[in-house]
Amino acid sequence: MSGLLAGKRLLVTGVITDASIAFSVAKLAQENGAQVVLTGYGRLSLVERIARRLPEVAPVIELDVTDPEHLAGLADKVREHVDGLDGVVHSIGFAPQSCLGGGFLDASWEDVATALHVSTYSYKSLAVAALPLMSPGGAVVGLTFDATQAWPVYDWMGVAKAGLESASRYLALHLGKQGIRSNLVAAGPLRTMAAKSIPGFEQFEDAWSGRAPLGWDLTDQAPAARACLALLSDWFPATTGEIVHVDGGYHAIGA
Ligand SMILES: NC(=O)c1ccc[n+]([C@@H]2O[C@H](COP(=O)([O-])OP(=O)(O)OC[C@H]3O[C@@H](n4cnc5c(N)ncnc54)[C@H](O)[C@@H]3O)[C@@H](O)[C@H]2O)c1
Repeated sequence: MSGLLAGKRLLVTGVITDASIAFSVAKLAQENGAQVVLTGYGRLSLVERIARRLPEVAPVIELDVTDPEHLAGLADKVREHVDGLDGVVHSIGFAPQSCLGGGFLDASWEDVATALHVSTYSYKSLAVAALPLMSPGGAVVGLTFDATQAWPVYDWMGVAKAGLESASRYLALHLGKQGIRSNLVAAGPLRTMAAKSIPGFEQFEDAWSGRAPLGWDLTDQAPAARACLALLSDWFPATTGEIVHVDGGYHAIGA
């Protein structure tokens, strides 16, 4: 098998439709020589149907990343398909409606706690659950939306992403001794199911279309997925705690 990820065994979370960033990661990873195991949340039969659209049908393991039993059993379930993991992709995010779309001042702690549990803490939970299968050279990669500034409608999800970015740096710190890297891709806006659940998401779309120096295609998940592949590969062996922007250059340009 040839390709950037030849022989690598990957666990990819976060596929729900074929527009999911995780779907593009899984597809490109298979095309580049990787063996992929998926996890699915909730509608497993739907995820299994989407998994059949990959170049090679990938097995799907049920994982609610907030469920301690799912996390405790994850390594054994993955072992039914592969004998170890070279990479783990966290492509998971969720916030209750009250946390998004301008409700920053009113969202309850219960709702904010849910957003942080699913979108931030889960990065650490997933990595620790997969750790028994990993060895030096392994990589964990997650997806963020640039959290260095406040966005009009992103609200508590922005706070969750700021936490994710910090959690990735701490994971880099704590897993570095074992030779395992942790990096994030900061993607520009993409029309996925998660994005559609954000009221006012079109504001991002307009901003990116007008300002990204390279331009920005809201329906092309491949650039973000390719960056994930690069970070999972052997071509970033000394890079950890990093955030790679895949946003058409938007973050680098003043208004
Ligand atoms: N779409 C964008 O504009 C954009 C931009 C930057 C970053 N991101 C990030 O990319 C990642 C993937 O999102 P996407 O845009 O591909 O949307 P998506 O809706 O396709 O994927 C989100 C995934 O999170 C999963 N999920 C939600 N709650 C879960 C739980 N409790 N346990 C396990 N999985 C759970 C869903 O099942 C779904 O597969 C997210 O972290 C998102 O914040 C998205």
